[in-house]
Amino acid sequence: MTTDLTQVIIFGASGDLTARKLVPALYAAYCQGLFPGRLQLVGVARRPWDDASFRDILTQNAPKIKSCSYDSWEAFLKLTSYVQTHLETRTDYANLGTRLAAIANGPCHRVFYLAVKPELCLPSVENLKAVGLLEQADGLTRRVVVEKPFGTDLPSSRTLNDALLRLLSEDQLYRIDHYLGKETVQNLLVFRFRNAFFEPLWNQKYVELVQITVAETVGMESGRGGYYDTSGAIRDILQNHLLQLVSLVAMEPPSSLSQKAIRDEKVKVLQCLRPPSDMPDASRIIVRGQYEGYRQEAGVNPQSSTETYIAARAYIDNWRWGGVPFLLRTGKNLPARFTSITVQFRMPPTTLFGSYQECHLRPNKITLRIQPNDGIDLDFDVKEPGSGLVVRPAKLNFDYENYFKKPSPDAYQRLLQDVVTGDQALFIRSDEVEQSWRWADSLREAMQGTPVLPYAKGTWGPPVANDLYGECEGRWVTG
Ligand code: BG6
Repeated sequence: MTTDLTQVIIFGASGDLTARKLVPALYAAYCQGLFPGRLQLVGVARRPWDDASFRDILTQNAPKIKSCSYDSWEAFLKLTSYVQTHLETRTDYANLGTRLAAIANGPCHRVFYLAVKPELCLPSVENLKAVGLLEQADGLTRRVVVEKPFGTDLPSSRTLNDALLRLLSEDQLYRIDHYLGKETVQNLLVFRFRNAFFEPLWNQKYVELVQITVAETVGMESGRGGYYDTSGAIRDILQNHLLQLVSLVAMEPPSSLSQKAIRDEKVKVLQCLRPPSDMPDASRIIVRGQYEGYRQEAGVNPQSSTETYIAARAYIDNWRWGGVPFLLRTGKNLPARFTSITVQFRMPPTTLFGSYQECHLRPNKITLRIQPNDGIDLDFDVKEPGSGLVVRPAKLNFDYENYFKKPSPDAYQRLLQDVVTGDQALFIRSDEVEQSWRWADSLREAMQGTPVLPYAKGTWGPPVANDLYGECEGRWVTG
């Protein structure tokens, strides 16, 4: 059976992710005609809303959305519906099935996007399966998107994965990490493997260290305290977004651009991450922090020891990266919001322009600015014009938006398009999830007994994190 209609059904339609990311992404794709075929958006949540009140809520949030035109917003709203459903209550799903069929009024493909608390993920899929909503008959696809965190540690992620794969096939399951939808992240492959002059230097012989920072100025956004307090910076960002960046920056060239070839190479990097619990002194390689006032946030345990900041020195034990430190850092309530990867090169083997005894020599660096102001910077030294030989730092900048004269699309827009077209390359495979948890669990084990240090809001975390940089290695970037 052929149809060009796809229903995107969002579970958790009253939540923050739907308002902030999913609806704007769907609307942008719709406006630009990027959505393959016809679209229907169906919101599903517990609230006793109907189509009209759901559309009102979407419109109240609309000022945050970059509008194409009033008419296009009105046309988009006509494609939206709402079905009240208690996700744990199986009997509600028969009604959901009937309503979805009525809304489609004919054959359609379906994407179920689970923007729900992690504990609701499996019951939702079980209930969808029980009422036949996951059956893929007559070429009509049924796909499920699962948000991170996928489990809370290695055993729970395995259990969740096994349970989901008893209900769905791997090609129906899309484990999302929205960082993979970011343009600059995708560009890492092009940058590394399409340009002859970077890749030969991209190894332990020439690279001294790599720093990856995901810095946020926000603290607990409304309603997130409860979730975050059970998660913390390790499970919220380090285990997923940060390790995905590590795997892309460190992977070997894939044999092709197929999803399998790329994911095979990424997972090998994760397999080679040295478990922190095997290293002798955790306090010298890991720093945890909690911003002052965190325990007073809504939904947070007043005695909480959850970290809102983590910095760690990681190692990838393979031939390419042996001995090169990867300095990883993320935190809430820091002074600036940015995500960047800095590859810092070793000094030339001999120098005519200074002594290696001095720590102030500037190494060459490549900085990949993931956000904001996506782009690439090269830092190197030049001679200052004039007599004498004065060496000065210089920079070359490449800025995506300036160069292409258009903003990069939002990550969710790209990823939602990929789910609809059935492309899983930018989604996480189960072995990637497992390997990431293996390392994150080991990190948490290594940290046991080490303090969670307080830091003031608007500072760069506990000052002792500066000690993760060795003497003469440089320092954390600040934007
Ligand atoms: C989410 C985390 O996955 O990523 C949030 O749960 C975090 O805590 C967000 O704020 C950051 O995403 P971005 O795209 O703004 O860097």
